[in-house]
Order: sequence, then C-alpha cells, then structure tokens
Amino acid sequence: MLKGKTVVLGIESTAHTFGCGIVDEDGKILADVRDTYVPEKGGKHPREAAQHHSNVSAEIVAKALREAGITINDVDAIAVALGPGLGPCLRAGAVIARALAIHYSKPLVPVNHAVAHIEIGKLLTGAKDPLVVYVSGGNTLIAAFSGGRYRVFGETLDIALGNCLDVFAREAGLAPPYVVKGMHVVDLCAEKGSKIIDLPYVVKGEDLSYSGLLTAALKKLTEGNEKLEDICLSFRENAYNMLIEASERALAHTRKKEVLLTGGVAASPILQNKLKLMVKEHNASLHVTPKKYAGDNGVMIAWTGLLMFKYGITIESEKAFVNQRWRLDEVDIPWMK
Ligand code: FE2
Repeated sequence: MLKGKTVVLGIESTAHTFGCGIVDEDGKILADVRDTYVPEKGGKHPREAAQHHSNVSAEIVAKALREAGITINDVDAIAVALGPGLGPCLRAGAVIARALAIHYSKPLVPVNHAVAHIEIGKLLTGAKDPLVVYVSGGNTLIAAFSGGRYRVFGETLDIALGNCLDVFAREAGLAPPYVVKGMHVVDLCAEKGSKIIDLPYVVKGEDLSYSGLLTAALKKLTEGNEKLEDICLSFRENAYNMLIEASERALAHTRKKEVLLTGGVAASPILQNKLKLMVKEHNASLHVTPKKYAGDNGVMIAWTGLLMFKYGITIESEKAFVNQRWRLDEVDIPWMK
C-alpha cells in the first residue's frame, strides 16, 4: 500500500489495445501505458491482436510500474477487463492478470469493460448520475443508473456506430488511418459534401440499427453516381442523428440532468455538437470523456477495479473466465446510491 492509500493496477485487452493503468483511491492516475495493434491493411483480426497483446503485456506492466514509481508490492489488487470484447484478446489479458494475482498473492477484481468506460468518464468529467451515450468500435448503447445497476435503455440491434464508420471508411479507400488530425476520416470527408442523399435511417424506440445504412452507403459507392463527399455527409448525418434521436428519447424517459458521452467515437466534434444542442433543449449538461481516456485504456479498468475492490468484489483466479458478451446490466454498482 502506498502511504496508506489503496492502489490498483488494471489490465485492458478487450479489443486492439493492450493497456495497463495504475490509480490510487483519490482517482489519481499514477501510470497509463498502452500499445495498440494496427494491422498493415484490411480489418483487425482478433487472433493477431491477441498475439500482439501477449507479446507486449509483460513489458507494458513493467513500464507502468516504473512510471508510477512503485513495485508490485505496493499494489493492493489487480483488476482485469473480463468482457465484453473479442475472445482471444480478452484471454490474453486474463492470462497475465491471473498470473500476477497468483504469483504475487494479490486479490483479482473482475471488471466489466462497459462499466469502466462509464466510471472513468464520471471520474474525469465530474458527472454524478448521467445518461450515458457509449459509442465505440464494438459498442453503441444508451444507459443510465437505475435500481442498483446501469440499465440499457437503447442499443444497436446489429453493428456498432464505430464499426459502421470504420468499415465504410475502409471500403471507400479513406482508411487506414481512421483518424487524421483528430477527426475520423468520414467526418473529414463529409465536411466537403454539400448534397444529402437518401439513405436508411433506422431508430426503433430507443434502439438503433446501422447495418442497413452501411449496406446502402456502400451500394452508393459501388454505383458511382454520387460524389464520395456527398455519400460521406449523408451517411454521417444519418448515423449521428439516429443516435441523437434515441438518446433524446432516453433522456426524456429517464429525466437525468447530465449526459455523458464516452467511448472511442466520443472524440467526434461533429457528434459532440449535435449532442450538445439536444442536451441544451432538455436543460441538462453535457460531459464528454477527455479524448485520451475515451478510447480503451488500462486506467479505466484500474479505477473501476478500485471502486469494486472497496466494496469487497473480487474473484478467485481459477474462476476468472472471460465473457465475450458480459452485459452492462448484469453488474451490481454498489458505489452508486
Ligand atoms: Fe471500449
């Protein structure tokens, strides 16, 4: 223990980033080290990403301890993201977390990756009880705390918003890289568009469907009758506006006074502006997780692990199995009143 303060080391490996974060009980970030697997071309292969994680894990953990200026003996618990995520990637993180816990006789804390995105957002923005809009490559959901858990009010019925944007960008020859000068390449290309083309817009209550929009936008690309900039603009407008509409319904439904935008797609200034306008209409405040911590990182796992550890939530290493489909609403949140 560090000067009497609880310190937790967190491991993140649910997708393409392997991260190790270390935090103390005051929410001070002592270390944040990460490495992201980037394939040379094409999509991201879970097995190759997992191989990357295994290759870098020991060095990243060692580097995080050095950055924090502590040794493993100063760490009170090891937290690990056990899901949701890609199976091979999750297992790579679980292996090192279990090894650390067993070898150094440390308690192991099982962290849900989606809960961690919410908790790091709350810690860094000061939001207390927000409606959460969590958008990333693998997740698109609208959630809020109710009855002891984060309840999902709306979500994608098929692919995630981030994945939808990335696949389109790749097929259109705009990516990789997916982000240029802090903007997603689809956002950038859309800035030069001027015409709105009719594309699917699918909101069902508070749920969303992105696959039809993606297929139709890709078809427009192949047909070649429209300018790429116009397709990007129309595609982006529908993709974001669908999310805003579903979020607005959830905000009216839950009557929360704060909205937290988090996940990798939260960095989009276009999406932020749209959400800001909607939130203002409802006299609520918008909180955006800082870009550095909106994407996957070990700090969010460490911080959520610390909250859980303080409530005595740990797991035996032998039972720490990964769960690719571990839902947000399956996790008790005892630190929220
Ligand atoms: Fe994530």
